Amino acid sequence: MDKILIRGGKPLRGAVQVRGAKNATLPLMAAAILAEAPCTLHNVPCLHDVFSMDKLLSHMGMSIEFTGRYMTLDASGIVEPYAPYDLVRKMRASFFVLGPLLARFGRARVSLPGGCAIGTRPVDIHLKGLEAMGATITLDEGYVVAEGRLKGANFALDFPSVGATETLMMAACRAEGLTRLTNVAREPEIEDLGKFLNGLGARISGAGSDMITVVGVDALGGTEHVVVADRIEAGTFLAAGVATHGDVTVLNANADHLPTFLRKLREVGAEIEVSGGRIRARALNGLHATDITTHPFPGFATDLQAQMMALLTCAQGTSIIKENVFENRFMQVAELIRMGADIDLDGNTAIVRGVERLSGAPVMASDLRASAALVIAGLMAERGETAVARVYHIDRGYERIEERLASLGADIERVRE
Ligand code: UD1
Repeated sequence: MDKILIRGGKPLRGAVQVRGAKNATLPLMAAAILAEAPCTLHNVPCLHDVFSMDKLLSHMGMSIEFTGRYMTLDASGIVEPYAPYDLVRKMRASFFVLGPLLARFGRARVSLPGGCAIGTRPVDIHLKGLEAMGATITLDEGYVVAEGRLKGANFALDFPSVGATETLMMAACRAEGLTRLTNVAREPEIEDLGKFLNGLGARISGAGSDMITVVGVDALGGTEHVVVADRIEAGTFLAAGVATHGDVTVLNANADHLPTFLRKLREVGAEIEVSGGRIRARALNGLHATDITTHPFPGFATDLQAQMMALLTCAQGTSIIKENVFENRFMQVAELIRMGADIDLDGNTAIVRGVERLSGAPVMASDLRASAALVIAGLMAERGETAVARVYHIDRGYERIEERLASLGADIERVRE
């Protein structure tokens, strides 16, 4: 198993290219199930989660070619709408196949994704929405079995779940008549999925707002689509730059997708410049504490909470961080404390008292974003070496993170044990 070794204390400086978003690519790949002609995606990131989705869809009979950053997907070979446990359990996003399979075949058997490290993450909203559209849903030996021809419906989500919004949008494209979804998630990846589906011939409006309407169509063709930039990856590099008192520019990013995060970076004392697709963050002076509460978009993204916490461990003063989106999303805390951070946990609230410095330590990655936080903490540590174990968590969502951080001046390497 790989480890990442970091000798910190060096300010990061330079520019780094942001890849296409993992959280857009995964639903786009699943949405290709609906297409009756081949689709091409550009700007596809080379990530383990993308390989897992490739494996699942290929197993179903989709033909996928992935070279460079291009991916072509041809769903004409899918005959059995079935997603087995062994392929679904590795990644919750596999559940995205349910909506498009049901919409296209009138039936689907998809394993429940099961719990995961950041909480129980149920799928009740996905299922209630499909039922509102006329599906019959049963649970059979750990599988969701969905059947029925879908009909347009009005459905209000209990919570603006990203996954449920995407499932229902995809399903509604082939439902008979008009579907109106309210209290939906507004994340940029949803807007991206809407553009892709409309490229296939769907009739979706409102993706990216809190109400989406979809007029069902009889068939969907193919399309070419460029995957939206990964705002979480952009935020991670910017946080690493500020946390190390450096000067980092992310290229091919979209500042409109990081409104609250960039405001918070300014609050801690960073200077932010935006021009076109470039975002530059410089920490010219000391960093101050700030309070953060995670919310669905456009609020502070839960996927950037851990990285921001790492940064705040050495900011002057006390920061209060509230995690509102997921339970149990403070997996990084125990490891940050081992590196010298002063953090108390009280339910969904973390109290981070800024310390002078962190020191390197062997630490264990526990989930994707917690791992990114440990890498940032390792880069901040002024003494000693940080060895981050279980790097496969990082590889799920960041493409060769150590090479890209090294290009910004970090002393970081990957070693195979
Ligand atoms: C997606 C992202 C993930 C991000 C999250 C929130 C992908 C592949 N993953 O995950 O990186 O952290 O959005 O921005 O895009 N919930 C229910 N019932 C449901 C669905 C969700 O109670 O049917 C709850 C979840 O347990 C969680 C909250 O809603 O507490 C948010 O989950 P959701 O927005 O669905 O996240 P994901 O789509 O799983």
